[in-house]
Amino acid sequence: MRIDIIAGARPNFVKIAPIIHAIEARQSAGSDLSYRLVHTGQHYSDSLSSTFFEQLDIPAPHVNLAVGSGTHAEQTGAIMIRYEQLLQQAPTDLCLVVGDVNSTLACAITAQKCGIPVGHVESGLRSADWRMPEEINRLATDAITNWHFTTSAFANANLRRSGVPEERIFFVGNTMIDTLLANQARLRPPNCWRELGLQPGHYFILTMHRPASVDDTGVLAGTLHAILEGTRGLPLVFPVHPRTARRLAHAGALPEGLHPIPPQPYLEFNYLVKHAKAIITDSGGITEEATVLGIPCLNLRETTERPETVSLGTTRLIGRDPARLAQALTNVFSSDWPPGQIPEKWDGKAGLRIAAALDVIARTGLNPIQA
Ligand code: UD1
Repeated sequence: MRIDIIAGARPNFVKIAPIIHAIEARQSAGSDLSYRLVHTGQHYSDSLSSTFFEQLDIPAPHVNLAVGSGTHAEQTGAIMIRYEQLLQQAPTDLCLVVGDVNSTLACAITAQKCGIPVGHVESGLRSADWRMPEEINRLATDAITNWHFTTSAFANANLRRSGVPEERIFFVGNTMIDTLLANQARLRPPNCWRELGLQPGHYFILTMHRPASVDDTGVLAGTLHAILEGTRGLPLVFPVHPRTARRLAHAGALPEGLHPIPPQPYLEFNYLVKHAKAIITDSGGITEEATVLGIPCLNLRETTERPETVSLGTTRLIGRDPARLAQALTNVFSSDWPPGQIPEKWDGKAGLRIAAALDVIARTGLNPIQA
């Protein structure tokens, strides 16, 4: 069975690495699964793309659609047009998309309309917040997905509630955690470690890139000041996403104690997380990594599509209320932060389970909806 593996943005690269490695292992053992890696080009900067391929041992993409940046419609439309051309010239048997970015939705729609069934890795997550572009991408992708590969009981329940039959849900675990566990021993300090004189447990990490957190410069500056009030002079290390960098450039002088650094490669970023006092973020995936690393995590959003990072893990939902932020930072300093538990099947084997399921799908029939 020929599989297109779609990846477009930084978190996608982290999620596909273990799937590719598991498919390659099955090929060596005689499976006739084969894959074509399609990079949509949504993320194109070296720091958001090629360093991840190198560090995570992901082979060079077979195809790069090179769509680049644009509005949501421009980016999604450009991916659809170029992926459709690819499928017309060189079809495949199954399109495997991951996560919730524009590339995920664009390729799922295109494949399905070309008569190619779709598998979605990290299916079933829901924040119930339709202001997030990622939530629209999740809902629309799952509505036209044939095979749902899930990370949590919450995702399984969401899919069942929306009428997905049991036999199309594969509860496989979390490929982002596969990558983290596989690379634990390789994590290494970034340049800023020595330059800033960082000490384990004596600095904070901050990441913010969501439109709701960074697009309004006033909101961005207010959040930075509120955080710096609660971090008691410890360094606040801030790997800055390109979207945020553009906004920061208009925010005037940066507050004292804030240390902006470029987006970090995978091994360096997770080294910083692993040794931080706490992480403050508006990301989704980072809350999962913090849970597995056992690091206190303050999520600057009001909702999460990953509730097990709160109910089981080390994340607290803070939103943008300065009082909640101040209280949470006080809890960090008084070590009043339960260590958390690891969610079911976040055990480093999700990629293996996905590849095994793909072999079963290849044997038993490609399209359960038509069957
Ligand atoms: C995208 C995903 C988001 C994910 C994030 C991880 C969607 C809707 N959003 O958001 O879910 O958490 O990636 O990073 O798909 N840019 C560069 N270099 C690049 C890529 C982008 O400078 O390599 C700039 C672009 O000019 C653009 C901005 O960053 O204006 C945002 O990029 P985009 O891919 O549109 O969305 P992200 O905010 O990165």
